[in-house]
Amino acid sequence: MIALRDVYKSFGPKRVLTGFSLEVAEGETMVIIGFSGSGKSVVLKHLIGLLVPDRGDVLVDGVSVPTLTRRELYALRARIAYVFQFAALFDSMTIAQNIAMGLRRQTELGAAEIDGRVRESLELVDLPDAGPLYPAELSGGMRKRAGIARAIALRPKYILYDEPTTGLDPVTSAVIDDLMLRMQRQLGVTSIVITHDMRSAYLVGTRIAMLYEGRVRQVGTVHEIQHTTDPVVRQFIEGRASLAATAAPA
Ligand SMILES: Nc1ncnc2c1ncn2[C@@H]1O[C@H](COP(=O)(O)OP(=O)(O)OP(=O)(O)O)[C@@H](O)[C@H]1O
Ligand SMILES: [Mg+2]
Repeated sequence: MIALRDVYKSFGPKRVLTGFSLEVAEGETMVIIGFSGSGKSVVLKHLIGLLVPDRGDVLVDGVSVPTLTRRELYALRARIAYVFQFAALFDSMTIAQNIAMGLRRQTELGAAEIDGRVRESLELVDLPDAGPLYPAELSGGMRKRAGIARAIALRPKYILYDEPTTGLDPVTSAVIDDLMLRMQRQLGVTSIVITHDMRSAYLVGTRIAMLYEGRVRQVGTVHEIQHTTDPVVRQFIEGRASLAATAAPA
């Protein structure tokens, strides 16, 4: 289980999280929505110890992440994989080398097993021939899938996806949605997905939480969020420019 308890985080004078609490149960896919700059990526970075809360606690399987040593954090990051908002592949390495690097760093696997995992994870994301290619040779959508392949190669218990479908065409987005569903249903992975794409949120989410002004404004099932009466959540999910306005006639 993942739990953030009353987390506060500021950068200088900028208060980003102000009492953020959220629990994600085993097997669940929690979608986090919220306006750009509201702190969604900041939330995820706390879960793998890239950021430390000013106050409050962050728990993964009952262990407090901010108290972990560097070595313990490496072990944690083999269980909790992070698919970065911007694919974050190393340009000077092939896709296969990018995937293998994480395995070499975070597992004790031998070379043959690593090769096997690389091949298997590229097949899972439908890029069986991309291993020898460099990131620059891939399209944006393929790079996103390569980033997911690198995450799933670790066979993690948890996957954190930061805007996995942003900037992709509808078909490529659907491929990624399908992949996230397969991870959950076939491999039993527990996930957190940050997205602006409500179609994707409704499809992959078991629950949806909205981050607003540093806290969770509402958390509920897809059905509950779709039928919410909260004006802030409604505005977001309907993509309206302001709270008060109803759609202006064209
Ligand atoms: N390491 C950092 N140092 C200083 N400020 C930061 C840092 N990381 C995030 N911030 C600030 O925290 C706020 C929230 O950033 P975050 O990246 O979490 O937003 P977001 O909700 O993911 O937005 P988007 O939807 O655009 O990706 C922003 O104002 C950002 O500038
Ligand atoms: Mg972000």
